[in-house]
Amino acid sequence: MSVPTFTNFDFSPAPEQTKQRYQHLAAKFHAEFPNEAIQYYTRAPGRVNLMGDHIDYNLFSCLPMAIDFDLVAAVHANPESLEIALVNTDPKFTKQQFTLPEDGSVITIDDNNFNWSSYFRCALIVAHKYLLEKGRDASKPLVGMHVAFDGTVPTGGGLSSSAAFCVASTLAILKANGVDSISKADLTRITVVSEHYIGLNNGGLDQCSSVYGEDGMCLLVQFRPKLNGIPLKFPTLPDGEELKFIISNTLVESPKKLTAPVNYNLRVVEMGIASDLLAKKFNLSLPSESNINSGTLRGFMETYFVEVEKQSPWDGQDNVKGMKWLQELTDKCDEWFTTEEKVGFTTEEAAAALGLSVEEFTQKYLTKMEVRYDKLKLYQRAKHVFSESYRVLQCLHLLQTIENGDDFLREFGGVMNASQQSLDQLNGSSHPNCNRICEIALANGAYGTRVTGAGFGGSLVSITTAKKLPNLVNALVAEYYKKEYPNITDDELANALVDTKPAWGASVVAAAAVE
Ligand code: GLA
Repeated sequence: MSVPTFTNFDFSPAPEQTKQRYQHLAAKFHAEFPNEAIQYYTRAPGRVNLMGDHIDYNLFSCLPMAIDFDLVAAVHANPESLEIALVNTDPKFTKQQFTLPEDGSVITIDDNNFNWSSYFRCALIVAHKYLLEKGRDASKPLVGMHVAFDGTVPTGGGLSSSAAFCVASTLAILKANGVDSISKADLTRITVVSEHYIGLNNGGLDQCSSVYGEDGMCLLVQFRPKLNGIPLKFPTLPDGEELKFIISNTLVESPKKLTAPVNYNLRVVEMGIASDLLAKKFNLSLPSESNINSGTLRGFMETYFVEVEKQSPWDGQDNVKGMKWLQELTDKCDEWFTTEEKVGFTTEEAAAALGLSVEEFTQKYLTKMEVRYDKLKLYQRAKHVFSESYRVLQCLHLLQTIENGDDFLREFGGVMNASQQSLDQLNGSSHPNCNRICEIALANGAYGTRVTGAGFGGSLVSITTAKKLPNLVNALVAEYYKKEYPNITDDELANALVDTKPAWGASVVAAAAVE
């Protein structure tokens, strides 16, 4: 399946409005780069994750949907030039310019000079590597590009604005360099690692959602047996009632890159160590497939059940078996960790538990990325991952079996609430403001509410119906936004509290569509 090219705006829920937005972007482009034609546009959406956070980098499936907020790039490529110039309709992102290496080498990123164009450099790296993989002459430089961007995905809000940026940019760069068609699988595979070049060791949830999104559908994002996004329908609600997913941004920004050593990357490290520790308990050897070259909790699960429990392997499809294994592991975490271990591990304690010296432990787990902690919460993280992965399969089961929309809302909402509890108490990735939004939402018409994405602030997603929506929105405005941010403007409010729809994933949009 290839990434589509749209020749009109019928893919959008509001075609006329979307066209005007592209015209506004085109005006920005022409103001900056007069006398240059826009050759094409690329776009990629953000995502909201309905279930399964902090499990993708453990290779467990997640349940997100692409949303109707995206990043659009208007592109002019010039094979005679090595200049990259990037502008943005948002004045916060000032014009950036640099020159591509003339000798055809892959561009590098200077961490001391980090700004929004660093994400474009990430895209240049992964696009260039893909081109080399496809046999491009290694001494031939990439072509110069002038690009104007317009984004509607709130930044720092946990809705994958950076993944949308990297996916749309990679698509733009590939097309500028002669790739007119790329499969969704390849675009996902190469963009999953794009942000690793700026030190963010994310899994593949965001990029896969941004590429595979389909109108009206959520997605089962799988990493085994292969990376894939499988569209799934929601049940129809009775009496013409409409299912609604409301996103509420706490406005507590959690810039992933800046807080990574104590938040996101620390989770990646903790879960990698937890996998190896559990493997050590049973003398198992796991494939090194995490972002820190340790085992993963998925790797542990598969090896444990086959080698210790002597069961046949799991193909990832048999839901009942997957749920049984994950439930068992969730319960076993309570037995496998002692009372002291449940408090957390110091570096010395973790090293000793793994039979390593502190030097060896540091070398193996703490050098790939900077992390800071008092205690490593290995029990909590492992239990979160097993139980959260169970909940993804539970949601899949609900989507596949429930026909009655009322039952679906209640049950799906209940699973979302259980997830929130785990994110808060076991994974430590909620935030007091997130918890406050949960309380207000649940008391005012949401069936379920949870932090979505990396967390530590960012956004929450609630499931409700069109009928209950006004009450829910009013309560959030009065009891959260007006209290926390008394000076909030109407525009800011409109951006913070949004009614979103599952939308199409990444695409090229023909320049002619805008004229
Ligand atoms: C961020 C990462 C994803 C995923 C989520 C948490 O969005 O980019 O890969 O790990 O956090 O589920």
